Amino acid sequence: DKGEYRHFMLKEIYEQPRVIKATMEGRVTKTRVLEQALGTEAENLLDNVRHVQIIACGTSYHAGMVARYWIEELAGVPCSVEVASEFRYRKHVIQQDTLFLCISQSGETADTLAALRQAKKAGFRAALGICNVPGSSLVRESDLVIMTQAGPEIGVASTKAFTTQLTALLIFTLALARHNGLPEEKETEIVEAIHRLPGQVSDVLALDGEIAEMSKAFMDKNHSLFLGRGSQFPVALEGALKLKEISYIHAEAYPAGELKHGPLALVDSEMPVVTVAPNNDLVEKLKSNLEEVRARGGELFVFADKLAGVKPEEGIHVMQLPSVHPITAPIVYTVPLQLLSYHVAVLKGTDVDQPRNLAKSVTVE
Ligand code: F6R
Repeated sequence: DKGEYRHFMLKEIYEQPRVIKATMEGRVTKTRVLEQALGTEAENLLDNVRHVQIIACGTSYHAGMVARYWIEELAGVPCSVEVASEFRYRKHVIQQDTLFLCISQSGETADTLAALRQAKKAGFRAALGICNVPGSSLVRESDLVIMTQAGPEIGVASTKAFTTQLTALLIFTLALARHNGLPEEKETEIVEAIHRLPGQVSDVLALDGEIAEMSKAFMDKNHSLFLGRGSQFPVALEGALKLKEISYIHAEAYPAGELKHGPLALVDSEMPVVTVAPNNDLVEKLKSNLEEVRARGGELFVFADKLAGVKPEEGIHVMQLPSVHPITAPIVYTVPLQLLSYHVAVLKGTDVDQPRNLAKSVTVE
């Protein structure tokens, strides 16, 4: 039931504060990740993990890409991320003590399951699954499972599944990091940031009207570019995926630093450029990328921390977002991009919940 909402996708976007909270529940206290957050067997599995191999498809793959930044930064464990359809058909070298981590909303994605079955035969240390559907194949076949509490996701374009996957992945990262000597104060700092997420996501939802207004600029465009740096690069990828899936506008994402190495050639007044800029360490670099775009007549749409000092001017539209902890920023900054693509699709009159050619669960390869 869509209730008061025009589409399931919009309803699911608005459910995010609640389902992020539900995914935290029973796993964190006010200041720490609970010892049993991942179940009692987890403790052994997380000991001596030397490498994490993440496998997923589509939006779930983007969640894995964000997690790589977290796992390497907080747990100090090397992490590789690959789409299932590539991983399963190539010869891979298995490092010792690798934790194999599959991320799937449905738990039924054929390629992800095939990769998992292969990995089990090949002898990875353990298989961890992050999944939203109880009783799914992924849940049944993993050694350890972290359920996201997003509830049923009906819209084909994934929204709340993604932000709850990220929430679960961050809690997992902290549990792993504890085995690798993350200082208690750091853990507390991040757990407190996790607790602020539902409120921050609600603050972003309050910008819905402004984002709807912004979306008009995309209606008659055929191409768009999404830029982000660091853990915001996967957020840019996810924003571009959403726009192409439901509005059928060609959208490409690049790490902002790659602009000069090719995509800058595409930029003109017909190419809107969307940028997510929460990170104060990288924002100065990003600003010079923005100048490069503007100098070529490109129109910029920047979602920036209100303290980052990105000023609106001719050709630069700025949407100010709440100041957030850099670690949790990818979760918060995903939301305005979901709303942007939603509104563009509504303006274009596409079938938002059932985009052409796509299925909710890809059970064949
Ligand atoms: C994008 C989308 C797809 C899925 C992908 C993986 O909005 O929904 O890209 O993310 O098909 O599906 P799961 O997570 O069920 O394995």
